[in-house]
Amino acid sequence: MSKIYVVYWSGTGNTKSMADKIGEGIEAGGKEVQVTDVSDISPEGLKDEAVYALGCPSMGAEELEEDSMEPFVAGLLPFVAGKKIGLFGSYGWGNCEWMRDWEERLKKAGAEIVLEEGVTCLNDPDSETLDKCLELGKALAAL
Ligand SMILES: Cc1cc2nc3c(=O)[nH]c(=O)nc-3n(C[C@H](O)[C@H](O)[C@H](O)COP(=O)(O)O)c2cc1C
Repeated sequence: MSKIYVVYWSGTGNTKSMADKIGEGIEAGGKEVQVTDVSDISPEGLKDEAVYALGCPSMGAEELEEDSMEPFVAGLLPFVAGKKIGLFGSYGWGNCEWMRDWEERLKKAGAEIVLEEGVTCLNDPDSETLDKCLELGKALAAL
């Protein structure tokens, strides 16, 4: 049984709650899951994976978190062509520009975004968001 990685960065736990729920969805879909803080994995660790999820809140000014997630995503870009990637993250006040930019960046590099767009939520995930996270996990498991 193949393992599906859910790699995230989270400062105050909101995006981590989403990651954990996506992990539950993957397990409910019958696949093994590895929910991993981005500081515990390198881009090479995901290089050969066909399906995975990446999560990061909106940080900076509508950007990925700069110390860990941004270098990780930059390092992963050469390997994303043909990969199926679920995206997710929390935000505080913006209009989700960070997520649209992130999607575009990965699509330009040849990735397919699972469910066509990332799951976003304002601050801590409510039950509707957690349902979406569960669905994303199941969709990843079904690929
Ligand atoms: C330094 C910093 C920069 C942020 N920049 C943005 C931003 O540009 N747009 C936005 O909508 N939220 C922004 N936020 C709010 C976070 O995205 C929000 O608090 C989110 O829920 C944090 O998720 P986490 O608990 O997974 O860290 C920022 C928060 C911090 C601490």
